[in-house]
Amino acid sequence: NMLEPCEPKKYVSKTPLGLPKLPLPDLKDTMDMYLRCVKHLLTEEQFNKTQKIVKQFEAPGGVGELLQSKLVEKREKTANWVFDYWLNDMYLNNRVALPVNSSPVMVFPQQNFRAPIDSLKFAAHLISGVLEYKALLECSHDLPVDCARGQLAGTPLCMEQYHRLFTSHRLPGLEKDKLVAQESSMMPEPEHMIVACKNQFFVLNVVINFCRLNERDVLIQLEKIKEMAESGEDRLPPVGLLTSDGRTEWAEARSILMRESMNRDSLDMIERSMCLVCLDEASGPELSDTTRAMLMLHGGGAAKNGGNRWYDKPMQFVVGEDGCCGVVCEHSPFEGIVLVQCTEYLLKYMIGSPSKLVRAASVSELPAPRKLHWKCSPEIQKRISSSADKLQRLVKNLDMNVHKFCDYGKEFIKKQKMSPDAFIQVALQLAYYRCHGRMVSTYESASTRRFRKGRVDNIRSATPEALAFIRAMTDGKLSSKKMRMLREAITAQTNYTVLAISGMAIDNHLLGLREIAQEMKMEKPEIFKDAAYLISNHFLLSTSQVPTTVEMFCCYGPVVQNGYGVCYNPQSDHIIFSVSSFHESPETCSAEFVKHLLQGLQDMMDLCNELQQRIKPLSTIRLKLLRIIL
Ligand code: COA
Repeated sequence: NMLEPCEPKKYVSKTPLGLPKLPLPDLKDTMDMYLRCVKHLLTEEQFNKTQKIVKQFEAPGGVGELLQSKLVEKREKTANWVFDYWLNDMYLNNRVALPVNSSPVMVFPQQNFRAPIDSLKFAAHLISGVLEYKALLECSHDLPVDCARGQLAGTPLCMEQYHRLFTSHRLPGLEKDKLVAQESSMMPEPEHMIVACKNQFFVLNVVINFCRLNERDVLIQLEKIKEMAESGEDRLPPVGLLTSDGRTEWAEARSILMRESMNRDSLDMIERSMCLVCLDEASGPELSDTTRAMLMLHGGGAAKNGGNRWYDKPMQFVVGEDGCCGVVCEHSPFEGIVLVQCTEYLLKYMIGSPSKLVRAASVSELPAPRKLHWKCSPEIQKRISSSADKLQRLVKNLDMNVHKFCDYGKEFIKKQKMSPDAFIQVALQLAYYRCHGRMVSTYESASTRRFRKGRVDNIRSATPEALAFIRAMTDGKLSSKKMRMLREAITAQTNYTVLAISGMAIDNHLLGLREIAQEMKMEKPEIFKDAAYLISNHFLLSTSQVPTTVEMFCCYGPVVQNGYGVCYNPQSDHIIFSVSSFHESPETCSAEFVKHLLQGLQDMMDLCNELQQRIKPLSTIRLKLLRIIL
């Protein structure tokens, strides 16, 4: 039994050695599952070809067996055999710009700031929370181990990702980025944050003379920063915009910046900081959930707060003067769940511990925060304006729709004795089908944190059972038949989920086989050149559940140009959906997707209710009969 139940009150160690290693599925199991997953997404001709290729790949003595044996060796030698392959493939090799395409955001409830000082007070309170949380992280024994909930509940989860929250950054590279994470405890922990205000960057030392700043001191420093940023003197170009560009473009620009020692110092201060606090300007009058989500994802472009960011840093806390607040997160160091845990701690801290602000009458003696300086050559200026143009295109392109579905939530679904997550996934499949008349390769992130250094694998939610249910829903079949098919679709989805969170899904395994072949300098095996492989990795629907216990929601952009990104937050009596797509794609429309999603959820509820109505009288009769017999 690989998954031991969680011992209560067990605390984390920085190296989670107690957890089992990620298993390596059997080659044959992965190949069978691969065929099952792609069959209904391909033409008959494509599938027949794929079947032949797979047969050849898995044949005794064939390429598959050789690669599998190498993966077995790799598993023995490393803490997590897929960790690097996955990190490179998912993030570091990816050249796309981070905003919208890669960096998820948490959107806080709209804050009601009456005066500009209110937003600074909010920021100071938040910063105090970050310092408390960071102290918890540094003293690992104080941070309780997360325990899995839902499917396979009760197992402890790997805590490794937490230690990268405030001690890492993503370094752009010409071909591949690097996740620079402070592994060694020999290095001093960062003791400063960067505050961005009007596209200028300031060093906020949070430890001065061996003392951690209190909230009042932080506020005083923030006020000084605001004043310095507003003074207009020495206003520097919005260098932060460069970090919003494609990764190769940013790497090129960064190497030009690095030629000047002043720039090297500024870059170093930002990269070694614990996080950014972005004091944003008001963005406009309309602040619906959808608008706030968009502003958090791209800052509104160069004309608004797009340059008031440094996208390479994992945690950027945004505090807008207009009450638009949240967190922008660089995804490579950790998953959304860790981001949520940290953010919830902060919001609970802010609600639970009233602000400790006693305004000092006299001017504080703290040294003024240092402004970072840049020497920008004409070449850099040109690049900044090119980055601004590209960000503007992204701003225009993002088609976002955040919707709070209030007809029911998790509790109704649980009452049907179904997994809420599986139910929502089936509803997403139904919505896509109703929009586009076909089923497509779908990604749902499944946590593999039950294993050492576990990140995620993919639940391929476009199951044949879901397709059968969707067809039954559109073919006007009898309700009892539709209901049976819904149950089958949910069971298939739940089974895949359990497989994925137990480390037995296929995507990481296929990636491992592909990458180890490359490491061995072998010619790319046919299976990875096949159209089916490309189709099955083009995730037109990219989804994930990010639940919260505090009012806020997560969102992100699509992972392909003609696809949707769907993040959902199931609550007991409602579900928040954040749907994104790109306007430039003529195929997609977020509003249309949401419309079909709401209709589908309604239809699925009606189906459950209708059959329950029918079952009820039957069970009353049964009860009566039973009474007579007794
Ligand atoms: N009948 C009644 N209740 C059921 C049920 C059934 N048949 N099946 C599940 N439930 C209950 C569960 O017990 C659980 O109860 P709880 O709310 O009291 O804990 C609840 O329904 C939710 O379970 P479920 O909907 O099945 O899903 P889950 O919580 O196990 O989530 C995943 C599934 C895949 C989302 C989760 O395992 C996971 O991996 N999450 C991480 C995703 C991630 O990484 N996101 C961020 C990406 S950046």
